[in-house]
Amino acid sequence: MKFSAYSGKALGQRTNCLVVGVFEPRELGSEARAVDRAVGGRLGALLRSGDFAGRAGESLLLPGLPGLRGSRLLLVGLGSAAQYQRRGWKRALTTAVAALARTRIASANFALERPNDRALDDYTLARAAAECCGAALYRINDLKTSKRPPAPALARASFGPFAAARLAEARRGLVDGASVAASAALVRNLGNLPGNICTPRYLAAQAGQLARAHRAVRVRVLNEAQIRRLKMGCLLAVTRGSAEPPRFIVLEYRGARRGAAPVVLVGKGITFDSGGISIKDSNAMDEMKYDMCGAATVLGAIDLAARLKLRLNVVGLVASCENMPGGRAIKPGDIVTSAAGQTVEILNTDAEGRLILCDALHYARRFRPAAVIDIATLTGACVVALGAHHTGIMGNDEELAQELVAAGRRADDRGWQLPLTEEYGEQLKTNFADVANVAGRDGGAITAAAFLGRFTKGMKWAHLDIAGTAWLSGAAKSATGRPLGLLADFLISRARA
Ligand code: BES
Ligand code: MN
Ligand code: ZN
Repeated sequence: MKFSAYSGKALGQRTNCLVVGVFEPRELGSEARAVDRAVGGRLGALLRSGDFAGRAGESLLLPGLPGLRGSRLLLVGLGSAAQYQRRGWKRALTTAVAALARTRIASANFALERPNDRALDDYTLARAAAECCGAALYRINDLKTSKRPPAPALARASFGPFAAARLAEARRGLVDGASVAASAALVRNLGNLPGNICTPRYLAAQAGQLARAHRAVRVRVLNEAQIRRLKMGCLLAVTRGSAEPPRFIVLEYRGARRGAAPVVLVGKGITFDSGGISIKDSNAMDEMKYDMCGAATVLGAIDLAARLKLRLNVVGLVASCENMPGGRAIKPGDIVTSAAGQTVEILNTDAEGRLILCDALHYARRFRPAAVIDIATLTGACVVALGAHHTGIMGNDEELAQELVAAGRRADDRGWQLPLTEEYGEQLKTNFADVANVAGRDGGAITAAAFLGRFTKGMKWAHLDIAGTAWLSGAAKSATGRPLGLLADFLISRARA
């Protein structure tokens, strides 16, 4: 898909289809009014006839009218003008792209009303437009053998009008947004793959692909013997019940000088979480193929850093294995030694994410990171607390946590901070080891973070619990690509600072 931005009049642009918005109830947006004048009031007449109300989600494709340059006109509902904010604008854009994707239209000029948000600069708006188009055109990488519907013809999208002085900024936003969309598609594709295809070895092969695609990316993949040499007793404990071999993946993106402290991203890569001996209920257990979405996000973020050539060093660490029951599997009550040397009593084998992450977080130390951020589908408790709307943000550094919250807000991929205070860690005490891996139901998202916090002392660390945000359940079951948008904004902002 090719994106472009223009200034001046929307009506003057060459396009197959001009896209304009209508507010509810039946009120033309400013660009639509210009169109209406050009076509002799026919749009106004159409609205008066009651055929188009301007509701959010509504669209109507009209043939070209005398006075218009394009061969088609697409009307899109913007909802009520009073509530037309960023979400409404995105909804309208998504509706328009979905409608166009069902036609043979190859180029469109999106002249939608700008959302009511003074803080929204043209770079961010344009980046969001490109990201939104990419997301709307995403098709699930299914394994259906029936004939696929033809790919959408839409190949060129222009956006405007922008003020002439802002055009360069808008163009940068479109370029960056197209990259974010491409990396997000990678995250979604990996998430959607089934556990029998997307194994730890598959993730390692994908990391190898990134290193081949980008000169600034280097990869190292550690096998089980090498993991043993690093004394990652917790990762080894989780993988014991599985016939699939584990992998520990180290990706390095070099965008700044050699000595510059990197941002280290750590991903949970459980390619299937059955719960192990503390086995899960069968209900929706298939969704535990998504338990590697943190790892997928780390691969996506490295891909994005390389696409955007960010002036920043970024390290991606992925701890990956399956969590399965079996004769060799870990049992409740087993005690193992983590890479950091702390002993851990595994009271529940289903709390495996924190086990593989504590060894990966310990490995992060060797990079002397400017910040460490782990990304994990860690707890059902986080889904109970925040639903599918906010990623849970916790950590040991207030500034870093707030930086991530702000990035999520700008990217419309929001996170919410939960209070990781000392009390939560006390719930992890046990008579038998340095720490237990579970602490009862109450505050479950935070006690999981408290466990990780024991391994991040002295580093600026944040934890993103994406159990609620990484995928959608039910009829819309599919990976969302979140929180790549949040991390993209975070990394872009850091690279500029
Ligand atoms: N991968 C799950 C977390 C999860 C559950 C994500 C449901 C999305 C939806 C994680 O490994 C897990 O099983 N966590 C347990 C922890 C508990 C045993 C303390 C949970 O949340 O139930
Ligand atoms: Mn689990
Ligand atoms: Zn899990």
